[in-house]
Amino acid sequence: MKVLIDQNEINSRVIALGRELAQEYQGRPLTIIGILAGSLVLLADLIRAIDVPHQVGLLQASSYRGKSTKPGELFVNLDYLPDLSERDVLLVDDIFDTGKTMQKVMAQINEQEPRSLKTAVLLWKEEATEVDFGPDYHCFKIPDHFVVGYGLDFNNEYRHLPFIASLEGSDLV
Ligand code: IMP
Ligand code: MG
Repeated sequence: MKVLIDQNEINSRVIALGRELAQEYQGRPLTIIGILAGSLVLLADLIRAIDVPHQVGLLQASSYRGKSTKPGELFVNLDYLPDLSERDVLLVDDIFDTGKTMQKVMAQINEQEPRSLKTAVLLWKEEATEVDFGPDYHCFKIPDHFVVGYGLDFNNEYRHLPFIASLEGSDLV
């Protein structure tokens, strides 16, 4: 595996994004929704970098991958979602790849008629994006390589790594 983004780079970008979001959402009823499981490390760091009051909620979206780097059918679980009416919602995920996960989750959140809905991700594979929008906020653009660490997994491994690494052919078995 090859390290693409180290711990210090991630830390300073997340802190900077937190400051930007604190300015944007100051005085507004912000709810940050993390998409499980990939967003959990970013969510924990980002909410502590946003120095204005806000609520935190979770939902689960999984496209079954197993030992594959291609997504399968998308499953969304909204059971843990708080009430989002009258809230400014920021959806947080680890990565925006094709964008289909975010598109589907956004459609479901919009059914609750929040005051506003925006998205923030750690990584954006812009070349791989297949929807006609991108994330509102991102920390890093990366090439279309399969990456792990800082919440991102391969077959549920590697989420705990404090850096982002790309997996080479022999790791993907
Ligand atoms: P999308 O629906 O194609 O945008 O895919 C988003 C989801 O696929 C993310 O929430 C990740 O769980 C997963 N994913 C996409 N690319 C990668 C990757 O390079 N490594 C690990 N997971 C990925
Ligand atoms: Mg995910």
